[in-house]
Amino acid sequence: MTKIRSWLITGGAGFIGSNFVHYWCRQYPNDKVVVLDALTYAGNRNSLVTLEGQANYSFVHGDITDQSLVESLLRDQQLGGIVNFAAESHVDRSITGPDAFVSTNIVGTHRLLEAARKVWLTEGMASDHRFHQVSTDEVYGSLGNDDPAFTEEHSYQPSSPYAASKASADHLVRSYQHTFGLQTTISNCSNNYGPYQFPEKLIGLTICNLVRGKALPIYGTGKNIRDWLFVEDHCRGIDRVLRAGQSGGTYNIGGGTELTNIELVQRLCDLADEVIGASPELQARYSESPASKGVPCSSLIEYVSDRPGHDWRYAVDISYIERELGYRPQTNIEQGLADTLQWYLANESWWLAVMDGSYQQWIDSQYATSDSSLGNGQPS
Ligand code: NAD
Ligand code: DAU
Repeated sequence: MTKIRSWLITGGAGFIGSNFVHYWCRQYPNDKVVVLDALTYAGNRNSLVTLEGQANYSFVHGDITDQSLVESLLRDQQLGGIVNFAAESHVDRSITGPDAFVSTNIVGTHRLLEAARKVWLTEGMASDHRFHQVSTDEVYGSLGNDDPAFTEEHSYQPSSPYAASKASADHLVRSYQHTFGLQTTISNCSNNYGPYQFPEKLIGLTICNLVRGKALPIYGTGKNIRDWLFVEDHCRGIDRVLRAGQSGGTYNIGGGTELTNIELVQRLCDLADEVIGASPELQARYSESPASKGVPCSSLIEYVSDRPGHDWRYAVDISYIERELGYRPQTNIEQGLADTLQWYLANESWWLAVMDGSYQQWIDSQYATSDSSLGNGQPS
């Protein structure tokens, strides 16, 4: 069990990072938590606003590529753990603009590792320390329908610039453990969903579009498969790894819920039909939603050009983390989708605010450069 009680959480203003910071501050209120986040389009300080003012929590606006900043945070705040969520995380953006993925995901992770090595090992500040890298199942590449799910032994075969940048970071983390003796762990996780997800990913986008009567873009045939994990379960899995995982270890975290994209979107539509259909208040607020007019939300589904290099299927085998660390996801997909829809309905100001400005400009630029291959059927 770890003795570390002071943590640098990078990317803590993003989707999973902010859920994790809330989770950790709830579970371990005596731990010190310092969030370092560059507040890119995907970072939102509002997601952490309820923690502002708490004695053990602080926020630093900065970049993980700034090694001297990271070193001084580790030193001055006596931090013994790093959990690295900071990343460019959207596959479509890595296709239209891979540079930022190389910079943050590869160079940024390397700078964090160097800072940790210098302060914890060379200067000898922390004999007990931990560098945890939050990675993805996408490093393993794509599965066919009948292939067994990814185990930790599956070879790395990343397909997109995003996945390749995450794979590179994992290799760097592993090399720092092997070569320098830095105490590291890695978790490779499947598709997350839940509160505070930037509405460019499939579930958030679907919810935010169906309430406004906007098109629901489905790439290609809609038969690609993802393994969905409620974000709180991901946080529990990382907790298990931080507290009981072996240094040098890699742990797969998955939800055990494989769905085709079209099945998933259909479920969200059915759920919204039911919830909005039963609420005059929601019907008044979302008058543009088909559900407010007695029409199924699935009428908004539009098949659009496929994502270039689109991975077919992800599925994660969690038997290792289950056996070693006693991890199992606790939220089934029905409950998780219902809770997520409720969260977006109750937090309209959060997602309306993040959907203006830079996000909207990016969507618009996708239309402007439309070359039929960029998965750009998203509504403006
Ligand atoms: P996100 O895009 O919602 O958030 C990323 C956060 O990192 C943002 O707050 C952003 O401001 C910050 N950031 C970006 N560049 C930075 C930099 N250079 N310095 C400091 N901060 C920076 O991402 P997410 O979906 O929460 O994913 C978090 C991590 O989990 C990522 O490493 C991602 O690869 C991994 N992951 C995500 C999923 C998923 O389904 N979302 C699944 C598996 C793994
Ligand atoms: O598997 C883990 C990964 O899951 C994470 O590492 C990534 O950070 C995260 O973004 C996610 O990647 P995906 O590409 O699987 O997620 P996304 O929500 O972008 O897409 C899910 C599926 O839905 C995928 O097959 C593409 C499809 N899709 C997506 C969007 C945004 C659509 O059909 N229409 C859409 O509008």
